Amino acid sequence: MRVALPVALLVLARVAAGQPLPAVPVPPQNPITEAKRVLGKILFWDEQLSSDNTVACGTCHRPSFGGADPRLGQNPGPDGAPGTGDDVAGSPGMVRSDAASQFRPDDTFGLLAQVTRRAANPFFMTQFAPSLFWDGRAPGEFRDPQNNQVVIPVGGALESQAVAPPLSDVEMGHEERDWDQVIAKLQSARPLALARQLPPDLDAAVEGDPTYPELFASAFGDGQITARRIAFALATYQRTLLPDQTPFDLFVAGQPGALTPAQQQGLNVFLGPAARCSICHTPPFFTNHTFRNIGLRPWQEDPGRFEVTGNFPDRGRFKVPTLRNAGLKESFMHSGGLTTLGAVIDFYLGINGQVQFPENQDPLIPPIFIPPQARPNLIDFIANGLTDPRVAAETFPFDRPALHVEQSPPNPLLLGPGVPGAGGPAPEMIAMTPPLVGTKGFRLGVRGGPAGATAWLARASSPPAGGLLEPQALLGPFTLEGAGPGDGHATWSADIPNHAAVIDTVEFYQWQIEDPQAPGGLAASPVARLEYFCLRACPCIGDVDGDLGVGIPDLVAVVLAWGQTTNPLADVTGDGAVDVLDLVAVVSAWGPC
Ligand code: HEC
Ligand code: HEC
Repeated sequence: MRVALPVALLVLARVAAGQPLPAVPVPPQNPITEAKRVLGKILFWDEQLSSDNTVACGTCHRPSFGGADPRLGQNPGPDGAPGTGDDVAGSPGMVRSDAASQFRPDDTFGLLAQVTRRAANPFFMTQFAPSLFWDGRAPGEFRDPQNNQVVIPVGGALESQAVAPPLSDVEMGHEERDWDQVIAKLQSARPLALARQLPPDLDAAVEGDPTYPELFASAFGDGQITARRIAFALATYQRTLLPDQTPFDLFVAGQPGALTPAQQQGLNVFLGPAARCSICHTPPFFTNHTFRNIGLRPWQEDPGRFEVTGNFPDRGRFKVPTLRNAGLKESFMHSGGLTTLGAVIDFYLGINGQVQFPENQDPLIPPIFIPPQARPNLIDFIANGLTDPRVAAETFPFDRPALHVEQSPPNPLLLGPGVPGAGGPAPEMIAMTPPLVGTKGFRLGVRGGPAGATAWLARASSPPAGGLLEPQALLGPFTLEGAGPGDGHATWSADIPNHAAVIDTVEFYQWQIEDPQAPGGLAASPVARLEYFCLRACPCIGDVDGDLGVGIPDLVAVVLAWGQTTNPLADVTGDGAVDVLDLVAVVSAWGPC
């Protein structure tokens, strides 16, 4: 018996779990093509899809963390108070901005990055889901958001989902962002201008510096950019990400050694009638694509599916998440409230301080039983048996570029503590926009100053010697908006010229605020050090009009700016004058950049 029992269980496991993943369903309206997949991957990893170049889809969805977000931002939950049971570990997105892209304090987050109200779920295994998001509000019927026409009647949940984040003023946009603005931005952006260490497919795709209209032309036949095409490309990329090489998949395909004996024991527990896991987390998807209330939190905090359907039985129901790659996640559940698989098991058993909330709880949950000695094997099976090694290592097709926000040190870099003002801490600098050459609407903001005070933004080319920057220029004045001593805020924005001479130069900025009680009468923010950069499709010397080539239009631009200071770009030599030397410089740089 001692030998026979595990063998019998092994047979049970292989019979019950023995289905490989089926073929990926593809809506006929959006067939998979390589050009579309690559465009979708570019869009997913381009921080320029957000209104201020700070957030890509991939900022919140990291493959090596199971496609979820490891950052665990704190959302205080519906009670608005941090540190209470209804808190959510969500994804930090945008600092709130108004329709004119000026920073505007959010009721909950002030001028700090807003945090989503639920944890980011993985973007993997989404190709099989009839609807997406924790509450399923992205339906299989995809409507073109620009004209409300049904484009995909069934099977278009990925397309429906993809059109939400770019307009969300929490995730990627400013308030009232519309598709015309998103599209206009892509028309003039250099694809992946902020991304480094491109994987081979993306490297090949941006060779020769194509524009977005050119990439859309390869994917769709002509260069028009529309919301529908953006959604089609993003969906196609995600549809091709299939984590089907887990040890479990190899085991099912006939390699008994792919799962260790302990993991096989864990699988048996998982499939068994006492633990009940597979009733909802059904192989091979490890979800049955239903919505269930497991009693994680009182449903009033987040009604989940009920918010979408209005059906009373849906109170507190959330999508059953896939468990593929769950072992790579840093937090679990829609609230992100559990941080280890051990805590998840404790929750299902209602032990070790984990509480269940019975109102509208699924009747399958309270009877769950897992003997103590079986728990480590169950955890081993989920953590390791369901992890695709390509996802963990971020290898093709799960590879990706490095984002600007991952650069170390960050750029802009904040220096120094600043100079405190009237009784409070030093005002803070909001410096998030990457100083990419050619950026339209680069922004620096200040928060935490005295409302109503007069402020200046000091600019210099050398670092501060003490607390205060010695300004070469003072921009302003600004009157700090807000209502109170620590509530004053302001936004400065300007375009960074698309000019070769700017590349690799460094500038320092500091908010200086008139404050009679501060030393010397000036309170000041930390200093932002900006290193202007350009990684690809860069303008070159002589390219006065920024069209990536030097020719007649640049000569004309120099002549038009002759003897004036109105167009600093025409001062090709950078000697402070627009004259014959600049014409010579243009002619000697003739040709493409
Ligand atoms: C600021 C962080 C953030 C950004 C940026 C972001 N997401 Fe998400 N994503 C989330 C959160 C949070 C959820 C879950 C929200 C919910 O269910 O209410 C989510 C859910 C999803 C889902 C649903 C997965 C499922 O199983 O239901 C997909 C797919 C997805 N995101 C893809 C994208 C794409 C594509 C983009 C870019 C266009 C993007 N995300 C941008 C945070 C983000
Ligand atoms: C009644 C259906 C049901 C049963 C049975 C069930 N689960 Fe779940 N599981 C869910 C739902 C729904 C969620 C998400 C709940 C939420 O966020 O509110 C979830 C979440 C999880 C998560 C977190 C995944 C993530 O990405 O956040 C893990 C891990 C998990 N379950 C494992 C198990 C295990 C192990 C068992 C068996 C002991 C089990 N579940 C039994 C429905 C079920």
